[in-house]
Amino acid sequence: MNDPIKLTIDGVEVEAQPGQTIIEAAGVSGIYIPRLCHYQGLKPHGSCRLCTVTVNGKPMASCTQPAGPGMIVETHTPHLQEFRRQILEMLLVEGNHFCMFCEKSGLCELQAQAYRHGITAPRYPYLFPQRSVDASHPDIWIDHNRCILCARCVRASRDLDGKNVFQFVGRGRHKQVAVNARARLADTTVNLTDRAIGICPVGALLKKRVGYQIPIGQRSYDHQSIGAEIEKSPCSASKK
Ligand code: FES
Repeated sequence: MNDPIKLTIDGVEVEAQPGQTIIEAAGVSGIYIPRLCHYQGLKPHGSCRLCTVTVNGKPMASCTQPAGPGMIVETHTPHLQEFRRQILEMLLVEGNHFCMFCEKSGLCELQAQAYRHGITAPRYPYLFPQRSVDASHPDIWIDHNRCILCARCVRASRDLDGKNVFQFVGRGRHKQVAVNARARLADTTVNLTDRAIGICPVGALLKKRVGYQIPIGQRSYDHQSIGAEIEKSPCSASKK
């Protein structure tokens, strides 16, 4: 019943534990599948679709799809890579992501994915939305212009912090993260030690006064590509 599941990912036979998703099984085997909304320890959300792979030729979100016996998974075909570039470029134009002025630069997963996928300028026109910034809290601020609606803060506040400080409101292009207070972050019970703070993949939810503690040029993605820690794992090296 609990026997490992054998499947093939990018031509390599790998073993997954029952209940593991494809993205997890690939990761254990040293194969990095790009992701934005996925975060280890949070319930999968399946919203960004950056982790899309083909399973027996059909596209599926690898962060929500459990590994199954005999699956043939492809993670980096030219078609999938182009699909990911399109998603990233749409995200980049949909919000206001001015990396050169953003304190998250070098630590931002959207920026890092764009670099990993060779994006220098989006092919789509910028929408330049005008969204609010909530800097009411003494230690934390939200810039909705940079939010990519990944729901990491929503899930972390609900499932890890037990607070439900963040939720989605609105639909379609009006959808955004709201707080469980009348209007302002300062009126919520959020605080700096919450797991929801620090889990944002972009520069939307930030701690105040620490933005440049790590100098630009010395940050995680200034030195290595996003996903490199998975690809450099001993398991990965043994398969190359
Ligand atoms: Fe799978 Fe976002 S990482 S849908």
